[in-house]
Amino acid sequence: MAHPEPATAGAAEAHGHGTGEARPATGRRSPALSGRVRVPGDKSVSHRALIFGLFAEGTTHITGLLEGEDVLNTAKACAALGACVTRTGEGAWEVTGTGGRGLASPAAPLDFGNSGTGVRLMMGAVAGQHVIAGFDGDASLRRRPMKRVLDPLAQMGVEVVASAEGGRLPLTLKGSSATKAITYETPVPSAQVKSAVLLAGLGAEGETVVIEREATRDHTERMLEHFGAEISVEPHGAHGRRITLKGRPHLVAAPVDVPADPSSAAFPLVAALIVPGSDVILTDVMMNPLRTGLITTLLEMGADITVVAERTEGGERVADLRVRHSRLKGVEVPPERAPAMIDEYPVLAVAAAFAEGTTAMRGLSELRVKESDRLAAVAAGLAACGIAHEVKGDDLLVTGAATVKGGGPVETHMDHRIAMSFLVLGLASTDGVSVDDVAFIATSFPTFMPMMRGLGAVID
Ligand code: S3P
Repeated sequence: MAHPEPATAGAAEAHGHGTGEARPATGRRSPALSGRVRVPGDKSVSHRALIFGLFAEGTTHITGLLEGEDVLNTAKACAALGACVTRTGEGAWEVTGTGGRGLASPAAPLDFGNSGTGVRLMMGAVAGQHVIAGFDGDASLRRRPMKRVLDPLAQMGVEVVASAEGGRLPLTLKGSSATKAITYETPVPSAQVKSAVLLAGLGAEGETVVIEREATRDHTERMLEHFGAEISVEPHGAHGRRITLKGRPHLVAAPVDVPADPSSAAFPLVAALIVPGSDVILTDVMMNPLRTGLITTLLEMGADITVVAERTEGGERVADLRVRHSRLKGVEVPPERAPAMIDEYPVLAVAAAFAEGTTAMRGLSELRVKESDRLAAVAAGLAACGIAHEVKGDDLLVTGAATVKGGGPVETHMDHRIAMSFLVLGLASTDGVSVDDVAFIATSFPTFMPMMRGLGAVID
């Protein structure tokens, strides 16, 4: 059993928060941005590629894997659970799975750092196996709700041996190879909850059914099929889906080519829209319709985004996006769009700060349980930069202006997307925007700083 190559872990540390010290930075008024970039691989697909590689018979070859801290922690967990995980080049990884032999109990608690996706999916993976495993994470992850996953897993037969108050991390699970197949309607729209139940269903005899009232990202379903499981997806109600997985499938290694992450592309994309004169091309961006809510919204706001060379690669729609500086106008963003752009509201709020009129983002309750309370963190950041806004219940209203002064320091609360969003805001402000800590950017977009500077952004 090999652990991820030490060089990779070391590289992540150099970018990341390995020292534990906060690293402030400032985004400053920048000249027109230009260039052609490919942002790193999609985080959701990267986690899943490793996890399905862990279960499969044979060796899964992954290219374009996101080598951010969140995914590297999942790679380490896969190794601890019995896979052989090797880095063979930049973004190129091989995972030799456990196949029919089942997962192994890890010797030490699995540490998922900042990653809700990593820990929640892995809790599901362990649930259907004859395994005892400890789960832990950093201070942000220890605050986040885990009961949304533990509740359905308990129905399937997993035992929570120990946990912190309210079912939070650190916790220990005892999985069972006699997991019960259930039909579960998710109470919140969450791809993580759906995926945890489906992964637990791999160990169950019979059909595991997940019903979601609002469709969420479907990478788990696509990958289950890609690795040979029998799975069907039907519409449910106006916006939902019913997913049925036949238990105990024989999963076989399959190659995964990870497309560029639309949630990371969102930052240079919005930067190009708000910095005058900009003209930027983002290549190979995943265009899965359950991930493109931000693009839909920005187009409604009048953004000049051209979708070039749309194609299918590795089972996902991808395209190059040409983005030019645009005069934006405020729009209503309906609540049912939230699952397709759940991680993009902080940077949409930044775009809205430059739009004419008010942008009303409705139904954002799930933002309160992300890496930080993103509704509160965005509102506080907008306040620190002098941007007119209002939080009304679960809605965020942002009123734009022709010029934005900027300010800070914006508190990022261990949240990579708050840090990147406000640095982007600084690029089009008159006085710049400082943020208190950029270390967590390494969780999802370790090359953010050099890539943005390469486009012409002034960040120091
Ligand atoms: C993810 C699902 C979303 C998203 C997260 C990634 C996934 O979380 O916010 O960044 O890969 O399944 P929820 O499922 O909690 O909405």
